[in-house]
This record gives sequence, C-alpha cells and structure tokens, in this order.
Amino acid sequence: VFSAPPLQLAEKYFQMFPEETDPVWGNPCDDNRHLKIWTRKSCDQLPRFLVIGPQKTGTTALYAFLSMHPNISSNLPSPETFEEIQFFNGRNYYKGLEWYMNFFPIVNSSSTQFLFEKSATYFDGESVPKRAHALLPSAKLITILISPAKRAYSWYQHTRSHGDIVALNYTFQEVITANDTSPKNLRDLRNRCLNPGKYAQHLERWLSFYVPQQLHIIDGDQLRSNPVQVMDHLQKFLKITPLFDYSTHLRYDPKKRFYCQILNGNHTKCLGKSKGRFYNAMDEKSYKFLQRYYLSHNTALVKLLKRLGYRTVPQWLKDDLSDTL
Ligand code: A3P
Repeated sequence: VFSAPPLQLAEKYFQMFPEETDPVWGNPCDDNRHLKIWTRKSCDQLPRFLVIGPQKTGTTALYAFLSMHPNISSNLPSPETFEEIQFFNGRNYYKGLEWYMNFFPIVNSSSTQFLFEKSATYFDGESVPKRAHALLPSAKLITILISPAKRAYSWYQHTRSHGDIVALNYTFQEVITANDTSPKNLRDLRNRCLNPGKYAQHLERWLSFYVPQQLHIIDGDQLRSNPVQVMDHLQKFLKITPLFDYSTHLRYDPKKRFYCQILNGNHTKCLGKSKGRFYNAMDEKSYKFLQRYYLSHNTALVKLLKRLGYRTVPQWLKDDLSDTL
C-alpha cells in the first residue's frame, strides 16, 4: 500500500490515472453516496433540453420563441456570459457543477416546468457530447440546420460586424479558399467559418452518446418561413403540455422580413439588428466553391437523415447538392 502526504498522493494518483486529470462532471443525484456528501441535494436545477446550435442558423429566434412558452424557462441572464452559458465547451466547464446550476431558476414543479439553455457552439465542440451526456444523459437535444454555405457566409458577416480584423481584411472568397500556404490567422478564420458546417460529422459525435430519439433536427429555412409549424412539432417532440398556440403569438413583420413576437395591441417585438442583418448576396463563385467543398458532408447528411427516419430531405440540401459537377 502506497502512503504519502496529500499532495504527493495526488501526484501519484494522476500519474497512475492520467485520463482523470480532466474532470467529467456526473450527476450527484445518480448516486446516493454522492448525494449524501453534497450540500445542495437537489437536481431540479438542470436543463431538460439543450439547443446546441450551430451558430448562425436561427438559434436566437428559437431561444426567443421557446422563452415565450409559459412552461419553458431558459437560464437566468448573467453579465458574465451574456445570453449563452457555454458550459460544456470552453473553460467554464472547470468552474464546476454548482456554477452551472446557479444559472437556472428554482422552479415550483420540475415536472411541468421545462428548463433549457442554448449555446450555439455546443454543436461542433469536440468534448461537448461526452460532457453533456455525463451530466444530462436523458436530456433532449435540438439542432437547427441551414445550408452550410449560407451559414458560413452569415458567420463571416457576423464576424466582420464584431470588428474582427482578419475578417475585415479579407473577402469571403479569400477566407473560404485559404490554403496551407496562407497566413495562420487566415487559416484559423477559415476553419472557424467552415468546420461547423460539416453537419454529419458533428451529429455522428452526438449520436455516439445519445440515442436518435433524443435528437430533434429543425430545418432552419422552415423556422424562418413557418415558425408556427416548427414550434408545434417541437412541442410534440418535447412532450410539453399544454400546447402553446404560436399562431396567435407570432406574426411576420415585413419591415424586419422575419417573424416577430406579437405584443399587446398591435405591436411586434423583433430580434435586434444583429439578427437578420442586411448584406449583399453571396457571390456565385463562392457559392459554387462551397457546394463542392461540402459535397461529401452533405451527401453523408442525406444518408444520416434517412437513417434517422426523416422522410423528406430539406430543400436547401437538395439545392446545395445540385449542379456541383
Ligand atoms: P442573418 O443575420 O445572417 O440573416 P443565430 O441567432 O443562430 O446567430 O442566427 C442568426 C440568423 O437567424 C440570422 O442570420 C437570420 O437569418 C436567422 N433568423 C431566423 N429566424 C429569425 C427571426 N425570426 N428573426 C431574426 N433572425 C432570424
């Protein structure tokens, strides 16, 4: 038997079990011994579903629509994280479970009140599915997909608006066609722009931890053009009652060019200027390049959707796959 002062003992332990130096938080309520030594003693303050992204597919609109539902509550706002908690991806994970749970309101009845959070970078985060599953094995997952080419372009515009020097210095065409001889900052930007759009690859990672029945895929074009129907389907998937009638709470706003929330009287409340931006259409050459770039990924996505039982392929996916030769 090895014995030593605590610090040395810890060093020895992590030498023997190096994989444990990176923590994976589980749910203390799953084990009585853990529950006994835990001060909080309640697992009600954990989300029942996650909106995982990816970025620029309409995640803010979905978040806003979900928050309108009387029986759905999102995480509390925080000056530290703005809207998104981003717990499972970045360094926040190391702040621990208590830190995460404090973002969620204490609800009267966790059986009727659904808690959720939306962090759009979860979708393509390498360690996110493993970490999310360790803590929330029975959570439901919601993802929104649009044309990966259009997503990349929207992300580029978003990044420019945020004043990113690299994005401001290069055209979209230059970003997406950057290669191994390009400067590192340009290659990094290209990767952040294009990688999330490899949908099938990221979804497969989620599906190696969660069963298909836990995953709901929303066509982002539908969310934009027919949010009432999308929200109906989503409520059925979540098995949430009573069914909230979005047709009396959402209306198309011609000035905004998007659906917005109907407020008292005849007013509508739309998302801010940064959602539904005005910019020139993507140039044809870039679109053709991206059609080819995403060809294998989109082909894999069609197969994956069939395997998951989706009977129709989204129109944007058909369009992206057409005329690629
Ligand atoms: P653009 O600003 O490029 O048009 P996210 O919230 O994930 O960052 O996604 C932003 C995108 O949501 C916007 O991209 C816009 O096209 C889309 N969107 C979908 N429904 C919307 C709505 N009702 N209001 C505003 N934007 C919406």
